[in-house]
Amino acid sequence: MNYKAKSDAILPTIIVIFGITGDLSRRKLLSALWYLYNKGMLPKQFCIMGFSRRNLSVADLQKLVRSALGTGIISANKVQVQKFLDIFLYQQGDFDNIEDYRTLGKRIDNIEQNFGMRANRLFYLSVSPVHYEKIFQSLHDSLIVKSYCEKGKVWTHILVEKPFGRDTRTARILDEKLIEFFCEEEIYRIDHYLAKETVQNILSFRFSNPIFKSVWNREGIKKVHIELLETLGMEGRGVFYSDTGALRDVGQNHLLQLLAMVTMENPKKFDASHIRVKRSEILKRLLPMQDIAHNAVRGQYDDFVYEPGVTERSDAETYFKIRTFLDDPLWEGVPFILESGKRMDKNRTRITVYFRDMQQLPYPVTDKEKCHNTLTFEIKPEEGIEVSFLAKKQGFTHMLEQRTLHFSYHDNTTNDGLYAYERVLYDSIRGDQTLFTSTEEVHAAWRYITPILESWNKIPLEIYTSGTCGPDSRTSLDVDNT
Ligand code: BG6
Repeated sequence: MNYKAKSDAILPTIIVIFGITGDLSRRKLLSALWYLYNKGMLPKQFCIMGFSRRNLSVADLQKLVRSALGTGIISANKVQVQKFLDIFLYQQGDFDNIEDYRTLGKRIDNIEQNFGMRANRLFYLSVSPVHYEKIFQSLHDSLIVKSYCEKGKVWTHILVEKPFGRDTRTARILDEKLIEFFCEEEIYRIDHYLAKETVQNILSFRFSNPIFKSVWNREGIKKVHIELLETLGMEGRGVFYSDTGALRDVGQNHLLQLLAMVTMENPKKFDASHIRVKRSEILKRLLPMQDIAHNAVRGQYDDFVYEPGVTERSDAETYFKIRTFLDDPLWEGVPFILESGKRMDKNRTRITVYFRDMQQLPYPVTDKEKCHNTLTFEIKPEEGIEVSFLAKKQGFTHMLEQRTLHFSYHDNTTNDGLYAYERVLYDSIRGDQTLFTSTEEVHAAWRYITPILESWNKIPLEIYTSGTCGPDSRTSLDVDNT
């Protein structure tokens, strides 16, 4: 796809980043914007306006951007980096103060005057979700977005990070506020997992290769295991995490979206409206969890309560494993195991699809436990696909053993791959909502997760040693029950 040509065609655009000095902005957004800029993928007339509480000059903000980019990028691209820094502006403001929004509005009007025409406006909320409601309301009350909702040649897009609400009720309240001021086409709810190259590949792979088509259902698949395991701990996010827990942090969003990608029907048309509808349809079919003690395990790593910002009595889970099923004839009885944990012994995200075994094998297998047909979508740190199958063991024997076929994206992604946040930003500028979650999807996911959260205290919070595989009872969910 010729991204550059399309970007050149886009009208002047102003992106306002709320919370530009925050962690996400420094770790991901500023670098992602730099890469897009350097590849010529941003509109020709483009401006980045930081909005946050800190009292900074533009020079201070540029310093912060430089430190986010790092010395490697700066020394290799001196002239280009300077040009990039020149597109930054800064407005100090309190998220709760309407006057600060009015000032922001005036500055945006001035920028447009300099552009010589009205500009597209993109508002990126890189702030704690507690500020969302206030920001939606103030953008409206200060008239920054009002006239834009009426549409014209230019657009307004609002980007919100997860978690969107903390349960069904709060997500609904937040949505009511959002929908009051923005229409669905203007709302971009970010789930950066959808923007990962290898996650996008799931649909391409499933719907382009006939070899797996006839077995991609309950007849051919006996179990699917979706895991997001991290060696990292809190990394300064103790306050957020002890209020949120792992199930809200990555279960309600990333893992359920991965489940949707593996099980959704063929959308026939691969555009935002069709794909989002198919994802939401499958999320609506998640069967409410019946017996939580039998289908869920939750844990906390041993030194979690000593992390900065975490209270000594915090019962937030840093690990969970749940078994879920779909109310869908195609998937009836197939367990989907969703597992995630912090401070684990490994750092990996992947989806393993276990196919049903042959009723009868021609020869004995070397290791019964390990001899199955599986297909693994590797998402992190490896990016690729692995298929394992049975083959004759070499030599004067008739034993069967497990072998693998492996495909890796690595060579392609290191050079010119679009990182998830580049993709998120690029698509939101282009106006493609495919990789963003719709209202329907968010609510369907909360409808499934909320009752589990409400029953969390019915199961023990198991303390596990940092750097291990998690709580001992996690293996109880691996037993095949089909
Ligand atoms: C974020 C979570 O959404 O995803 C983090 O808030 C988690 O807790 C992260 O570490 C994992 O993302 P990735 O892309 O590093 O796998």
